[in-house]
Formats: sequence, C-alpha cells, structure tokens
Amino acid sequence: MNEKKITVVIVGMGFGKEFIQIYQSHPNIKAVGICTRNKETITELAKKFNLDKNLCFEHFDDILERKDVDAIHIVTPVPEHARMTIASLNANKHTACTIPMAMTIEDCKAIVEAKRKANKVYMMMETALYTREFLYGLHLAESGKLGRIQFVRGSHIQDMSMEGWAEYWKGFPPMLNGTHAISPLLRINNTKADTVVCHGSGRLSDDLAKRYGSPFAVETATFTLKNSDVVAEATRSLFDVVRQYRESYDVYGTKMSFEWEQLQDEQHVLFDGGENALRIDVPDTDEMLIPEIAHYTRREKIDDPNHVSFLQGAGHGGSHPHLVQEFLNAIIEGRNSAVDADVAANYTCAGICAHESAMNNGKRISIPIFE
Ligand SMILES: NC(=O)c1ccc[n+]([C@@H]2O[C@H](COP(=O)([O-])OP(=O)(O)OC[C@H]3O[C@@H](n4cnc5c(N)ncnc54)[C@H](O)[C@@H]3O)[C@@H](O)[C@H]2O)c1
Repeated sequence: MNEKKITVVIVGMGFGKEFIQIYQSHPNIKAVGICTRNKETITELAKKFNLDKNLCFEHFDDILERKDVDAIHIVTPVPEHARMTIASLNANKHTACTIPMAMTIEDCKAIVEAKRKANKVYMMMETALYTREFLYGLHLAESGKLGRIQFVRGSHIQDMSMEGWAEYWKGFPPMLNGTHAISPLLRINNTKADTVVCHGSGRLSDDLAKRYGSPFAVETATFTLKNSDVVAEATRSLFDVVRQYRESYDVYGTKMSFEWEQLQDEQHVLFDGGENALRIDVPDTDEMLIPEIAHYTRREKIDDPNHVSFLQGAGHGGSHPHLVQEFLNAIIEGRNSAVDADVAANYTCAGICAHESAMNNGKRISIPIFE
C-alpha cells in the first residue's frame, strides 16, 4: 500500500459533514479538518468526531495559508463553488468540489485553467456517477452486455419547497444544476456533450420565477454527443411539480436495456430480449472499495439521515465512499481524477447551455468541450 498521508479540510458542514468519518477511516489520511461559519457547529462536530482544533476553521481563506493542508473538499452553497475552487487550486491544494462545478461557462473555464496551472488533482464530487445503480449500468455497458447503446435518458425531479433548503434555491433554474441528470448519460457513453436543444415547460409561481428571471417549472433537453450517434435526453424540475423525488437514468441497448424504478425502493427493470422484463435489485458496491471504508455504502451509515439532501436524494446510492476513494487515489497515484476539471466543466456547461437554450425558445446551443 502507498504510505502517503494526506491532510484534508472539508468546507461546509451541511451535506459536507457526511464525509468526515469516511476520510477519517481511510488509511492514507493523516488528519481531517472542517470549515464552517457557524462556531457552534464547529464545537459540536469537533467533539463528536474528535477533530484537531487546529484544523477547525471559521474562515475559508485561513485554510489557504496553511502549508500542512494538502487537500480541500468544498461542500458550500452553489454560488461559492467557483470562487472557492479557484482560490484552493491557486493555493496549490488538491481540490474536490460538490456539484455543480460552477454557475457560468466563464467560471468553468477559469477552473479548468486554474487546475492546469496548479497541476493538482481536481474532482467534481458527482454522486450520480458512483451510485450502485450507475456502477451496475456502467459495468453492463463496458462488458458489452448492453450491446450497442441506442439511447439514454435521465431525470432529476425534486420538490425544493420542502423546509430545510437554503433560500438561494428558490426559483433556481432547473438545468443550472443539471449534473445529476446529465453526468451518467455522458459517462456511460464515454463521451462529452456537444450541442443541446432544451425547452422550458409550464410556469412557476411569480414569486419563484422573478428570483432568477427563470419562468419554467420544468426544463427538458436533448443533447447530441461528441463522436457518437446516441442522443441523450434529460429532464429537471425543482418547484411547482408534484412527484416523489427521482434521480434516474435509463439506458437502451441492442442486447439489453435498464430502466430506473418508478418509485423509490420499488426495484429497477432489466429488459433482455423480446417481451422479457426482470425486476432487479442492483448489488451493493462495497467490493469495489478498500475494506476500511466499504461499509459506508450502506444507508444506515449516513451520519445525518434527516438532512434534506439525503431525505430527497434517494440515499445517494452508496456513492460517498467511492468519491473519497477516487479523490484520494488520484492524489496518491499522481494522476487526474475520474471527474477531472475538463470533464466536470463539460458536464456542468451542458446544463448551463440547456438553460440558455430554454430561455431562447429551444435554440440549439454548442456546449464547450474542454480537452
Ligand atoms: N448529491 C449531491 O451531490 C449533493 C447533495 C446535497 C448537497 N449537495 C451540494 O452541497 C452543497 C451544500 O449543500 P447543503 O445542502 O449541505 O447546504 P447547507 O446550507 O445545509 O450547508 C452549507 C454549509 O456551508 C457553510 N458555508 C456557507 N458559506 C460558507 C463560507 N463562505 N465559508 C465556510 N462555510 C460556508 C454553511 O455554514 C453550511 O455549513 C451545495 O452546493 C449542494 O449542491 C450535493
């Protein structure tokens, strides 16, 4: 085993606190620190997880000056992602950031450039790429069991009027945070998004619509993909649509197809020819992880199962330890992460461009492909 030891600070202690114990359990971690603006949260979590007080920060900028911090994992509200990611890379820290990478094409581009200059690891911590369902489908695709992929479809339907979500989410344009619906479709085809046509559907209440000047209840997009004849379709809504939470992908092949379950915990469906339809439970992915963190795939290991993102997040499919493992392995092995800046920028810009298309009556928009 590689003996390298890493000190990581996690910034943002809502969803972010889920990662404390996973990092602490990883054999290549020297120490875990936290950063949040709330002093009481720091005191409470430092005690609960036995954290070194010297690695507990109230101000993000203070982390940047610390030579003993190797890596920063950002889990702050979306408008902070770009600023913090660029500052972290510029301070020569390996940098992981929750989704989405940023809110504008310019910021995505700036992060790609900052990552190149810093020559450190960047990873967008996209849970949808490490769910047991997605890893199962990816295996079907890569082992040839699906045959030729003919079509993919994704959705992320959420009701963010539920109490507990931060104020800035109200009226958030659906596709500006489209990565959960889009990333699996691009990854399973092993390519990037090329162009998009997106339509806005329905109308939000005036109170929500005026916040971002974005009137649509639903945004639904079709993407052409680079060097591929497959079209990907993705749908996203956050308010004023009644449906149980759904964060899904479907993939249709010449030999086999996979469809996400209709209701949570109802079972997914495999089609393997003719009129056959098999209801399946996808296997856990603990065997893909080092033993020290393998058990964190289980729902009961979630530290705060009442956090809204988990209640509405379908449990994130056991993805959290995979994200930690991949980020740390990339650092230890001196390689790019699986969701490096150029990949994350394309996946995020696919959503940003989709929203732009919706705002322009479904005009086709070219999506930047960062190489
Ligand atoms: N499945 C997923 O990938 C997933 C799930 C949930 C949340 N997220 C992402 O995680 C991020 C946080 O979401 P959340 O629901 O935990 O939000 P939250 O509001 O519950 O928590 C945000 C945290 O960030 C801290 N914070 C805010 N500004 C800060 C600053 N300037 N410096 C230091 N700390 C600061 C706050 O104190 C708080 O602890 C969002 O970007 C969201 O998109 C992703």
